[in-house]
Amino acid sequence: MTASSSSPPSPPFLPPRPSAFLCRRFTPAVEAALHERFALRVNEDDSILAPAEIARRAAGCSILLVTATETVDAGVLAALAPALRVVATLSVGFDHIDRAAARAAGVRVLHTPDVLSDACAEIALMLLLNACRRGLEADRLVRSGAWAGWAPTQLLGLGLVGRTLGIFGMGRIGRAIAVRARGFGLSIHYHNRSRLDPALEQGASYHATLDGLLGHSDILMIAAPGAPALRGTFDAARLARLPRGAVLVNISRGDLVDDEALIAALREGHLRGAGLDVFANEPHVHPGYRALDNVFLSPHIGSATTETRDAMGLLLIDGIEMLAAGRVPANLLP
Ligand code: DGY
Repeated sequence: MTASSSSPPSPPFLPPRPSAFLCRRFTPAVEAALHERFALRVNEDDSILAPAEIARRAAGCSILLVTATETVDAGVLAALAPALRVVATLSVGFDHIDRAAARAAGVRVLHTPDVLSDACAEIALMLLLNACRRGLEADRLVRSGAWAGWAPTQLLGLGLVGRTLGIFGMGRIGRAIAVRARGFGLSIHYHNRSRLDPALEQGASYHATLDGLLGHSDILMIAAPGAPALRGTFDAARLARLPRGAVLVNISRGDLVDDEALIAALREGHLRGAGLDVFANEPHVHPGYRALDNVFLSPHIGSATTETRDAMGLLLIDGIEMLAAGRVPANLLP
């Protein structure tokens, strides 16, 4: 008798019709697809659950479906062991998940790269245009009824043609931004951990250091993935390296920027404006931003289109099904 015929078959990675806990409400199409495949428990009221509450409500589940609003720390993973096999996050970012703890527990982590790049790039350009062309003040003026009519010096903004866009983080989202920004006449500079191939660079100028990029950025676009090591990267010293009158846009994670430093730079005029879709400690936005007319704010809506959120959810389902079949999905995090 051979060793293989005597050893018991290894259990499947997931049981048939595995149980899953959905921490937030997904789009109807994705929820329907989840219900078809899994024994799904849903956090019906869509509230943001603290780690202890996730651990309590997802007890016994093989699959945990989260978003960037849920912290999946070592405590949650330990509480859900050994039943938990997969954490699937409806986000490209994964800074809310303790991946080392997941690896140690044998839990696979899936995320949603690629499918949201276009939607995020659109919001990046929305912020950029509104920050440069004073969208908040323009809207307010019309709504207030105080608009006295066209004037030669009214709401003068920053034109884009011939200016430079410095992109921090030239991954898929950064490159999707660059494609659109070129259409507005901006020339692209970037800083990344490593230089891109010319085919991906598309003529953009590479800067080996972030400080080198800052000096060449009439507009700075923060598009790098969030990571603990990047917290506070854009502090007072870094912001001071931007040319006077520059604009800053952040679609990455709020904690990359030192709020006090950015607010001071916007107040004193070193920066002309900012567009922010992400904030440290969401949804608690630093009150200093609310008082500034030269900041355009949006509530973390980079990937918020129906087709994108559907694609993100379906990508997670595909990934889970591939894992169940013993295959390695492209959206599996190392
Ligand atoms: C992402 O996908 O990481 C977005 O920021 C939403 O969380």
